[in-house]
Amino acid sequence: MRIAVYGASGFTGGLALAELRRRGIAAVAVGRDGERLREAADRAGARDADLRIAGLGDHAVLADAFHGCDAVVNCAGPFALWGEPVVRAAIAAGCHYVDTTGEQGYLRHVLDAFDADARRAGVTVVPGLADDGGPGDLIAALVAARLGDVDDLLVADLRRPGAVSRGTARSMAAAGGAAVPLEYRDGGWAAAPADDTGRTIALPGGPEKVAVASFALPGVVTVPRHVRARRVRGAIRTEVAALFGGLTADAVESVPERPDEASRAGARWLMLAEASDRSGRTVRGEVTGTDGYGTTAVIAVEGARRLVADGAPAGTRTPAEAFDPADLLGFLAASGASWRVEDA
Ligand SMILES: NC(=O)c1ccc[n+]([C@@H]2O[C@H](COP(=O)([O-])OP(=O)(O)OC[C@H]3O[C@@H](n4cnc5c(N)ncnc54)[C@H](OP(=O)(O)O)[C@@H]3O)[C@@H](O)[C@H]2O)c1
Repeated sequence: MRIAVYGASGFTGGLALAELRRRGIAAVAVGRDGERLREAADRAGARDADLRIAGLGDHAVLADAFHGCDAVVNCAGPFALWGEPVVRAAIAAGCHYVDTTGEQGYLRHVLDAFDADARRAGVTVVPGLADDGGPGDLIAALVAARLGDVDDLLVADLRRPGAVSRGTARSMAAAGGAAVPLEYRDGGWAAAPADDTGRTIALPGGPEKVAVASFALPGVVTVPRHVRARRVRGAIRTEVAALFGGLTADAVESVPERPDEASRAGARWLMLAEASDRSGRTVRGEVTGTDGYGTTAVIAVEGARRLVADGAPAGTRTPAEAFDPADLLGFLAASGASWRVEDA
């Protein structure tokens, strides 16, 4: 098995390279700058990685760089700006594709626009296989399965502020500038109501409540593809929404390129899904762990590996459509993640 990482010179791409090495999977590091790729391969302890230089401007060169690979893990963001050429080239090269985006608009576009091409090529395309879109979609599927008919489903990313890379800040600024958060309602997507001040969510395991605001989370566009629900909404802590919403170009450049090891290890991510049916029965699920970027590399590489080794229906798929939700969440336990689903 051979897996290519596009954007291997970046922070997340480097972690994906290291994870491929840890798993004993042959890696191809692809990007626009040979020197940065070499440095990244050295940093990842992957000196033997096959390095291939390909920018995004020439489809044939990019598809050629993926030649002989079984799957592509795309870590080059902002995806709204740079994602599409990589999806197109991966499909043209006959590779399965996963990426680490958290950008709602891009995710929706890929799921809609590339399904027919991916089916024709016999490959599976799973955008949003990161520490929010992956666990969020998987836990929502498990919550919904307990209920049958879902009336209202909330996906919430309840991590505290901090431990963010410059690439994430840049992507949030690029995506947030153009996008109003969506919610899914009565069979279609529409702008989430702006006036949601004062909403709170109880944190798992105690009475503490945190203020949340609507946010353009991946789950809002992925969950309705496999859960029949009247309404699906997304929320994050109000303080985090304010930070992402207020990002200027200068503020982005002041964010460190990569969070240091200590803040990565200390940063806990927490995805929650809460759903109710028309009778008012409510089921709640949560999945949590540390080091969101490390988790992103683990789930993206494992997802790509599963697409190659186990197969999945061709076309564009959400994480919960491509993989067994409980099994993939269980796999994350080896990296310290845990999950549970219970009646609220
Ligand atoms: N949703 C989540 O939970 C989650 C988690 C992890 C990461 N992510 C996303 O993953 C992406 C990467 O994050 P990061 O922190 O790793 O960012 P990063 O360190 O800035 O890396 C960005 C990568 O993209 C490449 N790139 C940028 N512009 C390019 C262009 N025009 N042509 C070709 N390559 C280009 C860079 O190549 P050069 O080195 O040549 O500049 C680099 O390899 C971001 O969109 C981030 O939001 C999301």
